[in-house]
Amino acid sequence: MAEQKATNVTWQDGQVTREDRFQILRQKGATIWFTGLSGSGKSTIAIALEQALFDVGKLSYRLDGDNVRLGINKNLGFSEQDRKENIRRIGEIAKLFGDAGTIALSSFISPYQEDRDEVRKLHEVANLEFVEVFVDCSLAVAEERDPKGLYKKARAGQIKNFTGIDAPYEAPAKPEIHLRTDEMTLEQEVSIVIDYLVDNGIIRRGYYTRTDDQADGAAATALQGNQA
Ligand SMILES: Nc1ncnc2c1ncn2[C@@H]1O[C@H](COP(=O)(O)OP(=O)(O)OP(=O)(O)O)[C@@H](O)[C@H]1O
Ligand SMILES: [Mg+2]
Repeated sequence: MAEQKATNVTWQDGQVTREDRFQILRQKGATIWFTGLSGSGKSTIAIALEQALFDVGKLSYRLDGDNVRLGINKNLGFSEQDRKENIRRIGEIAKLFGDAGTIALSSFISPYQEDRDEVRKLHEVANLEFVEVFVDCSLAVAEERDPKGLYKKARAGQIKNFTGIDAPYEAPAKPEIHLRTDEMTLEQEVSIVIDYLVDNGIIRRGYYTRTDDQADGAAATALQGNQA
């Protein structure tokens, strides 16, 4: 991936650890990485999942294609090189969110397996959960949905390097989760992801707040895993 330009740089540790942060948030930080064609449903699922997590008191934060391209990645386009750098930066940002204790929900087409694997590796080295979610539907269905009118423009030659039209999409070889959005409902998709988070110890079921913790005995009970 990107070369390390600066020399003589070392990571500075603080006193509050990742485990401390996870404990006050009562969840583990992680990255849920949605990948799939434009119009496959990445943003729709991330938005619904964010709401579902919020409703049970879990903190997530969406990193979404255009939002990131309007800000930190505004100097990047859609060439293969720029797409790579786009994904690398998002991977690093998601990792920081995860380290902070947040469940980062990344919604980017991220068409290249190699780039996604690099992000996975970043997380492995940092000992953070990385959940690759293949948001899958046929090109025909994605094109029929065309929620932003982008396929129409790409077919008309007004957008170049459009994934599925004149740029490739490499489907994940071994995603943790595979959602067929042309066969499942949004509710099913969200509940599959939530079940995965529970089964892998990233969140626990139920809702409780810091105030609950402060009530007599509640903190001890919560830490024993009997709640939430
Ligand atoms: N089961 C489903 N799951 C998710 N989205 C669905 C489903 N059925 C229909 N849709 C519709 O498909 C469209 C998906 O659009 P969305 O913007 O979420 O795609 P995207 O993958 O984020 O695309 P892009 O890469 O362009 O941002 C929405 O209009 C959504 O309502
Ligand atoms: Mg989107």
